[in-house]
Amino acid sequence: MSISLGRILPIVVIDSADDAEPLAEALLAGGIRQVEVTLRTPAAIEAARRMARHDDLVVGVGTALTTDDVSRAADAGARFIVSPGLIEPVVERTLALGLASIPGIATATELARASAFGLDLLKVFPAEQLGGVAMIAALAAVFPEVRFMPSGGIGPTNAGAYLSHPAVTAIGGSWMAPREAIKARDFLSIADLCTAAGELLR
Ligand code: 3PG
Repeated sequence: MSISLGRILPIVVIDSADDAEPLAEALLAGGIRQVEVTLRTPAAIEAARRMARHDDLVVGVGTALTTDDVSRAADAGARFIVSPGLIEPVVERTLALGLASIPGIATATELARASAFGLDLLKVFPAEQLGGVAMIAALAAVFPEVRFMPSGGIGPTNAGAYLSHPAVTAIGGSWMAPREAIKARDFLSIADLCTAAGELLR
């Protein structure tokens, strides 16, 4: 199952489910229509559930490490599942539930194993530490049919370089909705950061 995501994916860590609703509003106000809620806090599943009530926001769940994570995310209304690495049972459960699977890869071997599932979009993580755009260009030359969604160390200064590579259909990052800003309920700043991120696409 593939999914049509926008080109910029905020990756969020939510400490309180009560922040989910205003965060969704802030993302939408900043022109963002997709979000990855990471399973890094106890509040994450409930936060994803509340965000997924917005019809105009495509909500995915990230940091999915187990099949149980996938099932809980699907129950919460997630439309896509992201993992930091290639965890084959997670991919299998995701596809079995009819959701889009976006596992992380860090090597050509992992990319080849992920491609065997017929996946058309792969996360590259941690992108900057792995070699950034140059690493993606090297992989894209060997696997021209694969599309990449890098994350890890991407921000306003290097986002444009990733977005201009033809094999990169989307980039992910936490810079548009930093955990501390969510905790501080600074949703105006988050909306502004999202608007600024959108301007990278112009
Ligand atoms: C991820 O899950 O891809 C990372 O948490 C995003 O990395 P960043 O915080 O460096 O943007």
